[in-house]
Amino acid sequence: MRLTVKEITGKKARGEKIVTLTAYDFSMAALLDQSGVDVLLVGDSLGMVCLGYESTIPVTLRDMLHHTKAVSRAAKQALVVADMPFGSFQRSPEAAVRNAARLLKEGGADAVKIEGGAERFGLVKSLRSADIPVMGHLGLTPQKATELGGYKLQGREPEDAIRMVNDAIGLEKAGVFALVLECIPADLARRISESVKIPTIGIGAGPYCDGQVLVLYDFLGLQEAIRPRFVRVYAPVGDMIKKAVKNYRRDVQEGKYPSLAESFTLNKNQGGKEQKGKRGK
Ligand code: KIV
Repeated sequence: MRLTVKEITGKKARGEKIVTLTAYDFSMAALLDQSGVDVLLVGDSLGMVCLGYESTIPVTLRDMLHHTKAVSRAAKQALVVADMPFGSFQRSPEAAVRNAARLLKEGGADAVKIEGGAERFGLVKSLRSADIPVMGHLGLTPQKATELGGYKLQGREPEDAIRMVNDAIGLEKAGVFALVLECIPADLARRISESVKIPTIGIGAGPYCDGQVLVLYDFLGLQEAIRPRFVRVYAPVGDMIKKAVKNYRRDVQEGKYPSLAESFTLNKNQGGKEQKGKRGK
């Protein structure tokens, strides 16, 4: 049984941190789910880390549905949250509700995430009146990266910080159950976390948030070109993959892979047996 929105929000009162990672495909999501992650976020960052776009803007609802379905098939205990991509919620509240409902009904997500502050209060209320759980997202909101001056620290100026605190309070009132805080000073994240009852989930927002999220490909060291200072690489899988592929290339070129033991042969004395089953296992 997956964690519920209520169980996630209850963690703040119990002083338990919320462990979140992004996920985009079945196999990785299954590993994260089995390792005890609380929330699997199917972020529209998939546009940049899986699809090779330069921003999240080109990501479509179709892309989000495709990846959310894969993650949902794997998620047995983690709550699945799907990002609403750019263009899927701006046209009208009705269209936004319809698109969000698709992420739940067809995608199998438990909740959606929407970027933005005061301009989203009405939308959050519409989604909530359609019984769709919503996660908010303040600070560096990548769908507006160009308006914000790039992928930069937000909330430096006192007036920006005050606006963000007010946005957080307004989003809570509108009905979001949690709030991602991206790339803001640690003290501001603390102020916001103390100003709302809902949990805050930080990424580049310091240690005082009620939970943390990282983009999986950063966490695994798969994104070499850009590594923001807040990223901790927990397993340098990028380097491991490169080494493994070099070894594989050498073995194939030198005729060392596959051996007969790794082959299907009809002569039992000659190595691997003829085997049946899933993928010849
Ligand atoms: O799209 C995403 O991965 C996100 C996280 C950075 C929070 O929104």
